[in-house]
Amino acid sequence: MSEHIEFEEEEFDSSFNGQTIRRLLSLLKPYTVWVLGFLSTVMLVSGLDSYFTYLSALMVDDAIATGNFAHLIEIVERYAALIVVQAVAVFIFIYLAGILGERIRYDLRKKLFNHLQELSLTYYNRMPVGWIISRVTSDTDRVAELVTWGLLDVTWSTFNILTALFFMWQISWQLTLIVMVIVPIIIVVATLFQRKIIVQYREVRKVNSKITGAYNETITGVRVIKALDREEANLKEFGNLTGEMYRAGYRAAWYSALFLPTVQLISSLAIVSIVAYAGVTVDGSSALSVGGMYAFISYVLFMIWPVQEMARVFAEMQQAVASGERIFSLIDAVPDIVDKPNAYDVEHLRGDIVFDNVHFQYEEGKPILSDFNLHVRQGETIALVGPTGGGKSTIVNLLCRFFEPTGGRIVINGHDYTDLTQHAIQSRIGMVLQTPHLFSGTIRENIRYGRLDASDEEVEAAAELAGAHAFITKLEKGYEEQVGEGGVLLSTGQKQLLSLARAVLAQPDIFIMDEATASVDTLTESLIQHGMDNLMKQSTSFVIAHRLSTIRNATRILVIEDGRIKEMGTHRELLKLGGHYHRLYTQQFRKEVVGQVDDIAALFEEVATVEEPAADEPIAVRSITNGKVQQGELVAAD
Ligand SMILES: Nc1ncnc2c1ncn2[C@@H]1O[C@H](COP(=O)(O)OP(=O)(O)OP(=O)(O)O)[C@@H](O)[C@H]1O
Ligand SMILES: [Mg+2]
Repeated sequence: MSEHIEFEEEEFDSSFNGQTIRRLLSLLKPYTVWVLGFLSTVMLVSGLDSYFTYLSALMVDDAIATGNFAHLIEIVERYAALIVVQAVAVFIFIYLAGILGERIRYDLRKKLFNHLQELSLTYYNRMPVGWIISRVTSDTDRVAELVTWGLLDVTWSTFNILTALFFMWQISWQLTLIVMVIVPIIIVVATLFQRKIIVQYREVRKVNSKITGAYNETITGVRVIKALDREEANLKEFGNLTGEMYRAGYRAAWYSALFLPTVQLISSLAIVSIVAYAGVTVDGSSALSVGGMYAFISYVLFMIWPVQEMARVFAEMQQAVASGERIFSLIDAVPDIVDKPNAYDVEHLRGDIVFDNVHFQYEEGKPILSDFNLHVRQGETIALVGPTGGGKSTIVNLLCRFFEPTGGRIVINGHDYTDLTQHAIQSRIGMVLQTPHLFSGTIRENIRYGRLDASDEEVEAAAELAGAHAFITKLEKGYEEQVGEGGVLLSTGQKQLLSLARAVLAQPDIFIMDEATASVDTLTESLIQHGMDNLMKQSTSFVIAHRLSTIRNATRILVIEDGRIKEMGTHRELLKLGGHYHRLYTQQFRKEVVGQVDDIAALFEEVATVEEPAADEPIAVRSITNGKVQQGELVAAD
């Protein structure tokens, strides 16, 4: 949370960057005609605004003061006609700006989305998810806003001021000169104010997101907080945060309140000059008419608005440009893993898999695997076990080519896998992850992701093989049941079953499973086991195993620790060795079977002394617990 807030707020010092602005404007290129249409209507509206004030001056001086009724009617008619024109123009530009904004937002999001799908996992490794989400949501909003409404406001304001000056010049060029001195002062003052206001509001937002984070932590961690007796400390931290927010909000309100009176004060300087000029020259030849004076005062008073608008847009522009920079940095990010220009496809990935002196590091200087060698024969089932952080997931990530070895090579069926296309590899690998991911949609759709052209019958057959059919048919809508966003409506075990069904449907050449450590009920567990057995029969499999049953079914067990293969062999071989596996086994799996076996030590000894056991022979032992004879699992003890 806090990480992404920092990213969110890094925008502060980013200065104007001409190149980014040009690139932002180029987003409008596909819509040149619309942009021209909306800019010209904006100019029309803004010019008419200035003209109306001029018209009223004419009305007073030429018609009312002289009592020329016919002329008055004529002016009123012109006024009415132009009002209609203006109304239509307003409709057009608001409509066009709205559509343009949507198009730009859509274009940007589509571009980002496409690019995000291409980027390698290493990018996601570096960038927090929150950061990426803000790029796609708030940054695209800000940029779309800038290139439509921002552009509109600036055009309107600029044109409004220019046309006002033009009409003022018609009335009195001397006074116009005075105004031309004052207007830039107002612009500078207004910009300074807007900057300050925006900085304070940004501060408010920043503290606010911290507060949201604090709420989030408190609510989700409420039990822990209570258990650790941290209420007092948390309350104090929270108090500090809200205090900060209050102070920033207070300053923002202070500047906002001060802004208008200050600008009005400055513009009243102009008004005083106008009135004084009109009074002084009342006998002179260049005397200001009543209508002229009225028009001038209106122009000056009214000019505050375009000036304020411009100041606001310029102040906000900095932020929008920073948003643009971040969006472009994402769009420009190059995927680390790209297919070689002459990469080729292969029909299948069956065959031996060889890790040949593989070296790998996520971060420079922190090697996870060095000189890693492994030869897996077609059809083998490899169980990876070992302490947390040992490198098990890293090995399968490399195999899937989510990451590539930083040294050495991985050879599949004789092909260095970097010579193949990513598609060739990833489409032939079936994966069930520790926390399986489902997409919103129905169960049927989710299974069908395994192979998009599968028929309904094939989907159901796969579910049956994976052991998922039973629970699906018990659901109210069966295969048409919605799984919710990310599958929230299903349990972890059910999600794993669906992922398995997906993999069964895909009939992958290589099957990878990161077993869930989360407790799954025994029935689901045996279903999952059944589904896996099916897959393991037809594929070369790598299973990061936490369950004894899986490990025992493997052709080979690798004990991975510190990125090395510490031990390798079958269950029995490794037990006999009495090393890492033996220790791991006694510590990790004892609980799975404890209670089923009384004399653990004796049983272990008995099995450990068995010579040359057949690999596929189940190690089931009979044990006596509480006087009942039951089917138990082997358990070892020190
Ligand atoms: N995305 C990553 N970026 C940087 N380092 C990582 C990343 N993933 C794993 N590591 C590091 O690589 C090492 C091996 O991690 P890995 O996830 O392969 O272990 P594991 O054996 O799968 O552990 P577990 O049983 O907990 O899943 C660890 O030291 C870990 O800190
Ligand atoms: Mg792991």
